[in-house]
Amino acid sequence: MTELKLVKGIQSRHLKILTENGINTAEALAMSGNKSISGMEGIGEATAKKLIWNARSALGMSEFRTVTEFQENHEFISTGSLNFNAILGGGIETGFITEVYGPFKSGKTNLAHTICVTTQLPKGKGGLGGAVIYIDTENTFSKEKVRRIAKRFGLKSDSVLSHIFHARIYSSDHQSQMILEAEKLVKEKNARLLIIDSLMALLRAEYIGIGMLPQRQAVLNKMIHALSRIAESYNIAVLVTNQVAQQIRGMFSGIDAIGGNIVAHGCHIRVMFKTKGFASNSSLERKAIIVDAPDLPPEECQFFITPAGIADSEKIEVSVSKNQDEDLFVSANNVYTLEDIKGIGKNTMERLERLGITTVEQLRETSPDDLAKDLPGISSNKVQE
Ligand SMILES: Nc1ncnc2c1ncn2[C@@H]1O[C@H](COP(=O)(O)OP(=O)(O)OP(=O)(O)O)[C@@H](O)[C@H]1O
Ligand SMILES: [Mg+2]
Repeated sequence: MTELKLVKGIQSRHLKILTENGINTAEALAMSGNKSISGMEGIGEATAKKLIWNARSALGMSEFRTVTEFQENHEFISTGSLNFNAILGGGIETGFITEVYGPFKSGKTNLAHTICVTTQLPKGKGGLGGAVIYIDTENTFSKEKVRRIAKRFGLKSDSVLSHIFHARIYSSDHQSQMILEAEKLVKEKNARLLIIDSLMALLRAEYIGIGMLPQRQAVLNKMIHALSRIAESYNIAVLVTNQVAQQIRGMFSGIDAIGGNIVAHGCHIRVMFKTKGFASNSSLERKAIIVDAPDLPPEECQFFITPAGIADSEKIEVSVSKNQDEDLFVSANNVYTLEDIKGIGKNTMERLERLGITTVEQLRETSPDDLAKDLPGISSNKVQE
């Protein structure tokens, strides 16, 4: 991430206005449109354009490059069901907004709870060793459920809970505000997943009737744009859950996600959850269907809701790892290698390895001053960084 103050021509009053409006980095500014920046009180159109273009040129975004340089660093979070992971191409993908919609009790909140935990698993074990931000508009977050899921995956529940940053939301305006606040947290806490459960509940309750539809869609559009920008700039996964409504089109009717085209086009991956119908109320079997995704076929799979989250069968094995009492979130970070550190070159990596430092944990435990002595030619500031 590049600091906003490094953008050419930016003054302290611009910095203040931009950060108050949730634009905290040069990347965020460069990805914004002229209208959204000049719409902020105190920034005119000409200034907005100049600042945005300067940010883009500082980040190399104003030139074309061959696609050999194109970066595809997307990662996946396990859903708790291998079947579901398979149809998603690996799991919930970073860099994208995934929308899961379906009727009530179809498992949306259960999925949200499950990935709150799996995101914290180490890389290579279904997770990303990262924290989670949970925007809860329906008051359905359950610590107890998270504890059971943590137990299932052999993680210490107190540690898991301490890495979920939760906000209960009461109005659509509050929701917009907390999406911007979430961006700050992503940077501070190494969050790798942002959840909104559910995206439309408050908007649906506040903006009633066809007359208020344009205003509702304008608010929604801003939210989706902010989420998309956050997903891309920080390479984190965004999960939004959504409700359905009966839609009538001509002679036909069926259930469809609410939010119209803004949600349909704004979310990168859309998944529908289905229950087995009211006749089998007691069944916990569910279906997931890929409705739209840039590079996934329209497949479907079966999964189950269990007391410990989403799974492939009704009976899941609860991990009885003897590590259960360890703080696995910390050990999740242990598995990071030097390659995961931003700004480290191949040469430096090889030099560190020759000194016996091969993991992030080892590097963190080394004194920067001592290390600088062993690495002639590298400044102590760089070593510290
Ligand atoms: N501990 C549990 N054990 C088994 N099944 C459970 C457990 N807790 C919840 N369920 C089942 O999960 C379903 C509710 O799922 P969930 O809350 O994920 O639905 P949802 O799609 O979020 O619904 P809504 O639209 O109402 O928010 C219910 O059918 C319930 O029976
Ligand atoms: Mg729910």
